[in-house]
Amino acid sequence: DAFNDDECDYLFKAVLIGDSGVGKSNLLSRFSRNEFRLDSKPTIGVEFAYKNIRVGDKLIKAQIWDTAGQERFRAITSSYYRGALGAMLVYDLTRRATFDNLRKWLEELRRFANTDMVIVLVGNKSDLVDKREVEEKEGRNLAEKEGLCFMETSALENVNVEEAYLEMVTKIF
Ligand code: GTP
Ligand code: MG
Repeated sequence: DAFNDDECDYLFKAVLIGDSGVGKSNLLSRFSRNEFRLDSKPTIGVEFAYKNIRVGDKLIKAQIWDTAGQERFRAITSSYYRGALGAMLVYDLTRRATFDNLRKWLEELRRFANTDMVIVLVGNKSDLVDKREVEEKEGRNLAEKEGLCFMETSALENVNVEEAYLEMVTKIF
């Protein structure tokens, strides 16, 4: 799905947020380069990647930002969110604490994000079936309550990763 920048109809910014270790960086590398690392290191500061997406007859270039889940490694929050039209709010479905912490992330979104931002709630690591601590319907219920889209994904097995991004993109455009 490669196409030149000058053929591109739209450029938009999206951000990844959620606790450290939930798989944000791997959800991005899987989507942008089809890469996954079992030994990935915590992100420090901000990284970003581009991905070209075709939606109907529109050519869309997504600029996706990824930052540290760990507070001490995070960059300035307001600039991270500035101009972003979409967000992936990620938890690890094998760690209940990362689901409970969504309250904190939703507060941050309310403070810094545009009110019309499209937010996809993502329960990642669905491949770890024996380690699941958060049921799918809990994620779905929270998403409904907060008016978010919802998807369970596995960056490792490449399940629903593209679908989650496409859900966001099609809602925006
Ligand atoms: P910070 O940068 O610290 O905020 O973490 P992060 O959210 O970017 O997490 P990262 O992508 O670095 O992944 C953390 C760990 O989880 C790594 O060991 C990954 O290999 C692993 N991981 C990520 N996604 C999945 C997944 O879908 N399934 C499994 N089994 N492991 C995953
Ligand atoms: Mg990371």
